[in-house]
Amino acid sequence: MNENLIVSLKDIVVDFDGQKVLDGLSLDIHDKEFVTFLGPSGCGKTTTLRVIAGFVTPKSGNVFFDGKDIANMPPYKRPVNTVFQKYALFPHLNVFENVAFGLRLKKMTEDEIRPKVLEMLETVGLKGFERRSIYQLSGGQQQRVAIARSLVNQPRVLLLDEPLGALDLKLRKEMQLELKRLQREMNITFVYVTHDQEEALTMSDTVVVMSGGKIQQIGSPQDIYNEPKNAFVARFIGDSNIVDGVMLRDFFVNFGGHDFTCVDRGFKPNEPVQVVIRPEDVQIVPPSVGMLTGLVREVIFKGVHFEMHVDVEGYEWIIHSTQASQPGELIGMNIGPDEIHIMKRSEV
Ligand SMILES: Nc1ncnc2c1ncn2[C@@H]1O[C@H](COP(=O)(O)OP(=O)(O)O)[C@@H](O)[C@H]1O
Ligand SMILES: [Mg+2]
Repeated sequence: MNENLIVSLKDIVVDFDGQKVLDGLSLDIHDKEFVTFLGPSGCGKTTTLRVIAGFVTPKSGNVFFDGKDIANMPPYKRPVNTVFQKYALFPHLNVFENVAFGLRLKKMTEDEIRPKVLEMLETVGLKGFERRSIYQLSGGQQQRVAIARSLVNQPRVLLLDEPLGALDLKLRKEMQLELKRLQREMNITFVYVTHDQEEALTMSDTVVVMSGGKIQQIGSPQDIYNEPKNAFVARFIGDSNIVDGVMLRDFFVNFGGHDFTCVDRGFKPNEPVQVVIRPEDVQIVPPSVGMLTGLVREVIFKGVHFEMHVDVEGYEWIIHSTQASQPGELIGMNIGPDEIHIMKRSEV
């Protein structure tokens, strides 16, 4: 893996007015990887992008590009380009000239510029839009121009800071797929920022979950979803049931007054743990055969499934099922070994 590292951050500390905004952040980004920084507003995602781009100088720590420390490389020399949520297009230039802008700065000739711009517009689905004014474009089209304008410079790394944040849901979903396709076709590294879990899970090879200027977990979307490392990640990535339990011995955990077989080991005997169970991983059965029983409090129809709020031994659980139970009903609940995820208490 190491030979194709493109960007490495080592122990990055950034503080603004004495407040630590990035607190010892280390991260390896591989060439051609789609990496997403995911976390709540204010956790330091944009600042991390700006450190990579060279707009923020860390108080300590190093940024490596292709293994070389680039502390002294000014932003315009770094082989990266940024796409912002606000498109920042030049309103007085047409679509063609917006995309051509960077190439003109590089003093390329008209004959070199024209085919590159046309090809890039075709790639982002704006063939034939060259002469349009920016005002004649929808939000989605404007964002495509912004992306084309960055990609035409052939950056090795494209930094995207919540680029779809201003679009409505349907368009955002379309653009997610589009961006993913572009990244594959162009064969470059994307470093993407979002606070939207679903977006991060859909698009990324690697998700970096951040909170309070620190990395909470790095992993594939499946890892992050299925094996959250702590309660912050579990909660942030989706509705989760997080309950206290005791790891009796390898592969056996007790919670909710029942002993369960699980796939985890390496804990101390009787170590207190937290157990994460996804709402869709609870199977509803008759109470007489359930590993747990619960009292249904509330049932909400969500279009495809029902969301049920269920009292289990003093915890409120959320369960998703395609079959509705009734409020006030006693249900049995079964959970398979693979659906039980154990977290150390100390990581909470
Ligand atoms: N230029 C700045 N000066 C002072 N504080 C800043 C500056 N930029 C960001 N911050 C603060 O740093 C923290 C992280 O900001 P940011 O990286 O923009 O978070 P995110 O992109 O995850 O929402 C926030 O508390 C923000 O208020
Ligand atoms: Mg931000």
